[in-house]
Amino acid sequence: MPQKSIRFRRANFLDTVAIKKIADKSAPYITPLPLIVYALLILLFHHSSFVVCIGKRQIGFAILIPMLTSYGWFQIAIKPEYRRKGFGTAFFKRIYSELNRPKLKALVKKANKSSLKWHKKLGFNIIGEIFNYWLLELK
Ligand SMILES: CC(C)(COP(=O)(O)OP(=O)(O)OC[C@H]1O[C@@H](n2cnc3c(N)ncnc32)[C@H](O)[C@@H]1OP(=O)(O)O)[C@@H](O)C(=O)NCCC(=O)NCCS
Repeated sequence: MPQKSIRFRRANFLDTVAIKKIADKSAPYITPLPLIVYALLILLFHHSSFVVCIGKRQIGFAILIPMLTSYGWFQIAIKPEYRRKGFGTAFFKRIYSELNRPKLKALVKKANKSSLKWHKKLGFNIIGEIFNYWLLELK
């Protein structure tokens, strides 16, 4: 992974269009939402919304929802052409330390085998299932 120009930061309102484009390109692994929903999520959960950039270009985003004693991964995606190069892992590690190593929960579609493998590699365990999703936890 090229370390030099990679940057992680909290997402802001101006990232909304880029986030929406990345989400659109990441279907069906994640369900792309309308632009206005991303704008509202970033506004509501600014503390736990992040982008990863190369230079000024956003190549990934993550939105987490704060819960009582943990965070829930809402959506995370890396642009298809940047996947499997270590960016997702580096992004995760940065978010995890930025949020002070919280408990995390994630719902992963059972059909999304690559995401399940990625989460397991990061230390998540399957703790249940809800319809066609695995419920994962990282303690
Ligand atoms: C899941 C995602 C965020 C991971 O980011 P990434 O930058 O591709 O992942 P990394 O390069 O950091 O990690 C790679 C590891 O994850 C797993 N992995 C990721 N993609 C994989 C694939 N297509 N097939 C198999 N394993 C995969 C492997 O364990 C891999 O390790 P390896 O290369 O040593 O085998 C990214 O693939 C993505 O955006 N996917 C589409 C959206 C999505 O599924 N989001 C999660 C919804 S729950």
